Amino acid sequence: MSTRGPWGHLSPRAEDEEIEAPDPEGRRLRTLAPYFRPYLWQTAVTIVLMLTVTAGSLAQPALAQYAIDHGIGDKDSSVLVWCVALFVGAGIVAAVAAGLQIYASTWLGQRVLFDLRNRLFRHIMDLELGYHEKVPTGRTVSRLTSDIEALNQLVTEGVTTLVLNGLTFLGVVVILFVYDAQLALMCFSVFPLLVIVTAWYRVGSSRAYRRTREKVAHVLAVLQETLSGMRVVQGFGRQDAARATFNEANVEYRQANMATIYLSSLYFPGIELLAAGGTLAVLWSGTNRVLDGDLTVGVMVAFIGYLSNFFDPIQQLSQLYSTVQSATAALEKINGVLKTGPRVADQPGAPPLPPVAGAIDLTGVTFEYVAGRPVIEDLSLHINAGETVALVGATGAGKSTLAKLIARFYDPQEGTVAIDGHDLRAVTVDSLRQQMAMVPQEGHLFAGTLADNLRFGRPDATDDQMLAALEAVDGGDLLAALPDGLASEVTERGSGLSAGQRQLVSFARALLADPRILILDEATSSVDVRTEQRIEQAMARLLAGRTSILIAHRLSTIRNADRIVVLDHGRIVEQGSHDQLIAAGGRYAALHGDWHSLVGEVDA
Ligand SMILES: Nc1ncnc2c1ncn2[C@@H]1O[C@H](COP(=O)(O)OP(=O)(O)OP(=O)(O)O)[C@@H](O)[C@H]1O
Ligand SMILES: [Mg+2]
Repeated sequence: MSTRGPWGHLSPRAEDEEIEAPDPEGRRLRTLAPYFRPYLWQTAVTIVLMLTVTAGSLAQPALAQYAIDHGIGDKDSSVLVWCVALFVGAGIVAAVAAGLQIYASTWLGQRVLFDLRNRLFRHIMDLELGYHEKVPTGRTVSRLTSDIEALNQLVTEGVTTLVLNGLTFLGVVVILFVYDAQLALMCFSVFPLLVIVTAWYRVGSSRAYRRTREKVAHVLAVLQETLSGMRVVQGFGRQDAARATFNEANVEYRQANMATIYLSSLYFPGIELLAAGGTLAVLWSGTNRVLDGDLTVGVMVAFIGYLSNFFDPIQQLSQLYSTVQSATAALEKINGVLKTGPRVADQPGAPPLPPVAGAIDLTGVTFEYVAGRPVIEDLSLHINAGETVALVGATGAGKSTLAKLIARFYDPQEGTVAIDGHDLRAVTVDSLRQQMAMVPQEGHLFAGTLADNLRFGRPDATDDQMLAALEAVDGGDLLAALPDGLASEVTERGSGLSAGQRQLVSFARALLADPRILILDEATSSVDVRTEQRIEQAMARLLAGRTSILIAHRLSTIRNADRIVVLDHGRIVEQGSHDQLIAAGGRYAALHGDWHSLVGEVDA
């Protein structure tokens, strides 16, 4: 039996992540190069430090060889003193350079990641609403956290490992051949075996690490989904099912981690064994040759010294392989987000929208979220400046979509949306939104004080202006209920305030922003009828002369609009004033009849 329960079909499995087509170009580490460009000289210093560290550590066995062969062998104590001095000097230089190099490469890595994180966040801010509606928040969060972390490991430790060990390895190979080709070949006799074992580890570990990445993504997805749906989980008493789902994800993650540990527990001791074999070969053949007088003791000691410098890098580099794998996978995902262009983007050189009166024109607008399934079809609508238009229609008729087109969250596939005759595509998005406010159904509050939230659309609003705005939307009770007035802390998602109170704050926020065009998408659905009426009166007064688009299911809200537009399957089926539409006896009259019978039942 699957413990996945009700989440089985809901939770985005890590495997589902690859919704975008794989992009080999996005995996290339070269795409990171532009982030290093601002730090060219810091990069150069880091590389010089790495070279110094390598040179310092490679010099030591050679110095030992010279000391043994020429100091001890030739019984020349001055050579010995010099060698010891140089040996200590090389050690100190290598240590100091290593310290500086760790600092420099970490500094560099942190800068690069800082820039990347900022660039990614800025980009995500500009992605169209459609992207955020489609991609689960958890996934976007993991782009900015675990994927950046995977790159962090590569950039701060990986590059150092690669350069230091690569240089050391090559240096050792060259030095050993220069010393004695025969003995060098002797130690490299284990090389074929080393290649086979390392290839096995590489294949196995890349598979294992990919699994751990998938599993950790799954753990994050389950967490995000359960936590954000906490009210529903607890409301239906499904905590046990949630625990089981999480436990399953957690177990899979642990198992995936154990698989990598199992591989490492075989591979690293294996390399040690091979290293011992290599040392044995050198000792055996070297000793014989020393006894034959064919090889100096110093060279043999140097060989043994260099051998550890030969095997260590191989271990380190093969471990690096999985770091690189994680990093390239993360890079591909990050580049995928960066490559997603906002469908709604300013045209090059687009001018700002000049201050408008607020006349809205939709001409032959067709819009589809999914190709082939139009949500708005060949719709034309003229809204006068200052007019209040109510959009009415069944659930899914396309009311919110129409509002989003007017706010240019999307561009239509066909037709134009214009304000005061300016095609929205020809002006900048920012200048449009500055003259427009949209109050959604779910009033979202950000962590911070009530004042911070009110000021959201107008950062320079004074306390008096904020109080006046709250007063206007009948928020006196709300203010009285909060201990510190405007300075009271509200939390994210506005918990601590009721849904209706949150809507009041959203209203006051929109009022303060002083827009020319106001869109209310079922914004009064959570307040009681009396408050709703008071808000409407306040709005009518304060927003006189502004264009407003009202979306509501309550006909009481709608009847006072200048014009009512009835939508059905993305088309306008009726429009006119309340009285006209009632008299016409069409769709609106039917809705009105439903409403009356309902109110009759509820209120009676
Ligand atoms: N982001 C989206 N991606 C794909 N389809 C969407 C998206 N948003 C809405 N739709 C679809 O478009 C249609 C119209 O949705 P819309 O939100 O405009 O309806 P609505 O009239 O506002 O309904 P309601 O009264 O329930 O708010 C629906 O069939 C919906 O499934
Ligand atoms: Mg809607």
